[in-house]
Amino acid sequence: MGKVHVYDHPLIQHKMTIMRKAETGTKQFRELVDEVSSLMAYEITRDLPLTDVEIETPVSVSTQKMIAGKKLGIVPILRAGLGMVDGFLKMMPNVKVGHIGLYRDPETLEPHEYYLKLPTDITERDFIVVDPMLATGGSAADAIAALKKHGAKSIKLACLCAAPEGVERVQNEHPDVEIYLAALDEKLNDHGYIVPGMGDAGDRLFGTK
Ligand code: PRP
Ligand code: URA
Repeated sequence: MGKVHVYDHPLIQHKMTIMRKAETGTKQFRELVDEVSSLMAYEITRDLPLTDVEIETPVSVSTQKMIAGKKLGIVPILRAGLGMVDGFLKMMPNVKVGHIGLYRDPETLEPHEYYLKLPTDITERDFIVVDPMLATGGSAADAIAALKKHGAKSIKLACLCAAPEGVERVQNEHPDVEIYLAALDEKLNDHGYIVPGMGDAGDRLFGTK
């Protein structure tokens, strides 16, 4: 069963509370998604392997640590996942970015894939799928399945806000995938929205309705 990590750092909780408020506008919502994403990227990369390098400081020669050239990829689920990309890239500017387009049918709540573009060396990379919302889990589970179908062997999932139903679905369908969250909420409502959640993340990020 994939482990679930909830990052309840005070900075993350504070920023998430402002994002949840209905009166928070698009500009501030987008900035906060970006900031929380950077904070999550910092935690998700905690286990990156390091290697020794010899350098010269202005004072002496010294052996220090650098990241051991791990190949990473981020895959945002369009559209709302786009809001998390820059936050990750600020911490890891050289990672490759794939894209998967999925929209959730408002009646059936089933995801439909409309776009997929991934790095060519997919089998050599560790991937982080990013999407602010994990509701029924259908979109995340399908995105992970698409990555696996194309050869991805190591995948993590990073979401800001999740319902227990979505966590359970991803854990059942992809027990090898660890899930990283900024908050684990109470439940889904009858329309498949996370409660208390933050509403429609895509609409709030891009100012649409
Ligand atoms: C939202 C969200 C997730 C999905 C979560 O996207 O960004 O991708 O719903 O719901 P699920 O866990 O029940 O699948 P949406 O389909 O609204 O598309 P958008 O990002 O284009 O707004
Ligand atoms: N998608 C969203 O953007 N928000 C929810 O609460 C559920 C799905």
